[in-house]
Amino acid sequence: VLALSAFRAVASGPMADDTRLHAIFIALANQKGGVGKTTLAVNIAAQAARARMQVLGVDTDPQGSMEEIASAAGDTVGFHFAADRNPDELSRLRRVKGLYDLVVMDTAGNLVTGDGSLDATLELVLRAADFCLIPCIPERACLKPTLMTARVARDLGLHFAILINQDDPVRGAGPAADLRAFLAGEGLPVLSSGIRRYSAWPQAQLQGVMMPDYRGRGAPRSAVAAREDLSGVFSEVMALLMRKWAQA
Ligand SMILES: Nc1ncnc2c1ncn2[C@@H]1O[C@H](COP(=O)(O)OP(=O)(O)OP(=O)(O)O)[C@@H](O)[C@H]1O
Ligand SMILES: [Mg+2]
Repeated sequence: VLALSAFRAVASGPMADDTRLHAIFIALANQKGGVGKTTLAVNIAAQAARARMQVLGVDTDPQGSMEEIASAAGDTVGFHFAADRNPDELSRLRRVKGLYDLVVMDTAGNLVTGDGSLDATLELVLRAADFCLIPCIPERACLKPTLMTARVARDLGLHFAILINQDDPVRGAGPAADLRAFLAGEGLPVLSSGIRRYSAWPQAQLQGVMMPDYRGRGAPRSAVAAREDLSGVFSEVMALLMRKWAQA
């Protein structure tokens, strides 16, 4: 694991080769807790690593769950990770070229504090991002916080999309379809791929296995389905980013 201190050395040294590219920064965020920010952040990072990308996971949540889950996978994790809540370091990270293709930042909930102001650290994390993925689960209590998160992203001029997580595995089931229709009615961008609710997600985490490597005991269908969902979301996000990059 490359510690962020190595980064600091690179970031502060003269960059000789200017043809190297900056990493793309993705933030996972939602005002609401427990929607899958950390689960998706670590596994999108793992999926990118399996696609031979050089990936850094940055845990900006003081709870440190991303670091904990990534550490549990030991050598199989496939990406570097570090905890960092220091906004100066994040903006320095943005200037580093050639080391990483993708930086995936996990965030804490509560973007907006009680008095309605935006959390200062989270604002800086979002300002450091090229793209924000907002996981949302099909539950009433997730609607308002998701709309609020989307508004924050929009106000910051941040490219974002909502990802429906914990969709019912029964095809055509109601709540996720209703959620999709509601979000579309609000004029919000929603990924056409989603993540269904499967026990494989918490199980892989408990066993210290990243989803792209997770086979489960006796290769249950839920492991196959969860891997398929992750791969679908990863492909759609990469396609979105490539399109954006081509337009830039
Ligand atoms: N698609 C899914 N199917 C089943 N369980 C899931 C799924 N996605 C996430 N979970 C489970 O939901 C719980 C919450 O997920 P996670 O910790 O990733 O959310 P979070 O948004 O990071 O929460 P916090 O705001 O507390 O940081 C975890 O136990 C995780 O294993
Ligand atoms: Mg989390």
